[in-house]
Amino acid sequence: MAKLKLITFGCQANEADSEKIAGVLAQEGFDLTETTEDADLILLNTCSIREKAEQKVYSLLGTFQKLKTRNPQLKIGLCGCLAQREGLRLKDRFPYLDLVAGPGAMIYRIPELLKGGAAEPLLPRPKEPLPLYVHSPRPRRESTVKAWVSIMEGCNYLCTFCVVPYTRGPERSRPPEDILAEVRDLLAKGYKEITLLGQTVNAYGKNLKPRTCFSDLLRAIDSLAGGEIRIRFTSSHPKDFTPDLIEAIANLKSVCEHVHLPVQAGSNRVLGRMRRIYTREEYLAKVRGLRQAIPDIALSTDLIVGFPGEGEEDFQETLTLLQEVRYDSLYAFKYSPRPLTPAATYPDQVAEDVKTERINILLQLQDQIALEENRGRLGRIEEVLVEEGPNPKKGSSATGRTRRNQLIHFSQEILAAGDTVSAVITESYSHYLKGKIA
Ligand code: SAH
Ligand code: F3S
Repeated sequence: MAKLKLITFGCQANEADSEKIAGVLAQEGFDLTETTEDADLILLNTCSIREKAEQKVYSLLGTFQKLKTRNPQLKIGLCGCLAQREGLRLKDRFPYLDLVAGPGAMIYRIPELLKGGAAEPLLPRPKEPLPLYVHSPRPRRESTVKAWVSIMEGCNYLCTFCVVPYTRGPERSRPPEDILAEVRDLLAKGYKEITLLGQTVNAYGKNLKPRTCFSDLLRAIDSLAGGEIRIRFTSSHPKDFTPDLIEAIANLKSVCEHVHLPVQAGSNRVLGRMRRIYTREEYLAKVRGLRQAIPDIALSTDLIVGFPGEGEEDFQETLTLLQEVRYDSLYAFKYSPRPLTPAATYPDQVAEDVKTERINILLQLQDQIALEENRGRLGRIEEVLVEEGPNPKKGSSATGRTRRNQLIHFSQEILAAGDTVSAVITESYSHYLKGKIA
């Protein structure tokens, strides 16, 4: 069998895409390998969201040139968002690239691109319109416990900082029958947790005929699953977080008590310039609605510091928002100007050292809040799905997640991936818990 080394950068959408790439190439006789040295094909599934993500790819790509000199049969390809954004220009910079293919539906063209002839470089046709949602052949999933299920591609929002609409294209929802068939298959295989994926999952269904919505999809999956598995979803856009969706999360047994609700900033002036189409007050009203319906719901978020024009007062409003919401966890990023996006051309860019100072202050505050919240959970009993059995390196006998998506380590019990147990929380830290079987 030919050997494929697949290296994945970026978000869950990319991780899910990589499992699809591995599935597509398995049908072409490729097996996965851990090392680049014995690979016949190296594919980098790239990310473009921040400059750092791109630099990582470029520096890795540089090191592969040597491998190719040693083994001229070796093929090297770039997939994903950086490949889509930079397109064939990458060939000028890295002439030894054999394949350049964008994310999403481009995956299904990879075998064709590979077969396109060994002497000629194999390239996509970048001007072609994006196809509608393409049915995925069987992905080669990494876990036997948790599975990604893509329910949509692309994004119709145009946040002024974000490159995603330019790399993944406009929003296309996958037909519900297709999603339910994949879920049925996962249930039959004994999967314990399904995470529904999309850039704005809760906008699901708008462009489908007949029109449907995300809460209907959740209800349909829940009734298939009969409460036997966990359902998660990410990411949600606050604008599409409706009372109907809150009610669905509250009432459906399989839907976990955790919502990732990216806020990005706490100041209305910055939110407006980011074109997030909600105000701080509207966002906080959604949080209140969620907590009224599901008092113990866990909340996480994404935040950007140093967006162009963010002044000290704006940043203070992000901090007070954190204090008001008291998130269980968050991802914070320093604003990174992206080609094609409006905010990259704004004249009032924030200095790098100011961004660094702000992110440090923000993360410190969050660590303190999360530690306080987690201490408040000591002694509670929670359902844990074990994701990993004994791992001597980490000194843990098992690791899993609560329904609220908190990481929990066991030190005594011998548990296996896929076990569901009731655990009592015995120790609390900012980023994880420790527990034992209740
Ligand atoms: N649609 C998804 C994913 C967006 S990208 C969502 O709404 O969550 C993931 C996160 O990266 C964003 O939420 C944002 O916080 C961050 N991000 C996006 N563009 C960025 C940029 N130019 N600089 C810094 N962070 C960025
Ligand atoms: Fe990006 Fe905003 Fe869409 S963050 S993915 S443009 S909702």
